[in-house]
Amino acid sequence: GRTGVLAGKTVVITAGPTREPIDPVRYISNHSSGKMGYALASEAQKAGARVILVSGPVALSAPIGVEVRPVLTAEDMLQEASSAVDEGCDLFIATAAVADYRPETCAGDKIKKSSDAMALSLVRNPDTLATIAGRDDAPFSVGFAAETTDVASYATDKMQRKKLNMIVANDVSAPGLGFNSDNNAVTVFWPGGQTSIGPDSKTNIARQLVAMIGEHLGQAAR
Ligand code: PMT
Repeated sequence: GRTGVLAGKTVVITAGPTREPIDPVRYISNHSSGKMGYALASEAQKAGARVILVSGPVALSAPIGVEVRPVLTAEDMLQEASSAVDEGCDLFIATAAVADYRPETCAGDKIKKSSDAMALSLVRNPDTLATIAGRDDAPFSVGFAAETTDVASYATDKMQRKKLNMIVANDVSAPGLGFNSDNNAVTVFWPGGQTSIGPDSKTNIARQLVAMIGEHLGQAAR
């Protein structure tokens, strides 16, 4: 509530997958369920924040007291997240699993099958987190890293490259954790430290992450 660690703060969170259209009936996407991002939105709201959740297509309902702004593609996500941050934002958390590439063009009509093989031409998508964390007026920025190998080195490299205040690494190769499950296990890195949380439910991990982020945000503000 009003006395929580994020009281008076505005928080923008991205969650879920993006969907990159191939033709009117097909798309490229991934297995993100949105559960990690929705759990963080709910816990941030309970910790006193005003929360805007920029969400890809998921089967979850809006957490109580949280404003959901739905998006489909990576380009939509950049636009919605940027305008939410423009409105004033203290903390940005990127949990979304954004498609790194999209089809170069979306066919106007359903693509017919003809030859035995076909190629799809893909182009890079914009990076919402890097764009927001790189702004002159960047909020305190927290990224997630979904890795299967060398989790710590890839995660800390991402933190430096994208100019993040913290990064939350989950080992998505572990069975029953990470993508599309109710549980997760994470290691949080910040310049000069790290700590591991879980395995535990995404709700409990989100609660602990909010407490940790609140502490670091408080230190950054002093
Ligand atoms: O949704 P769930 O089923 O609950 O699963 C949760 C999760 C595994 C998806 C989540 O915990 C997680 O790890 N999210 C990040 C997934 C990811 O794809 O990470 P990445 O290593 O590709 O990207 C690094 C960071 O940059 C992420 O914070 C991502 O949101 C951000 N990013 C990446 C690419 C891009 N174009 N725009 C971005 O903002």
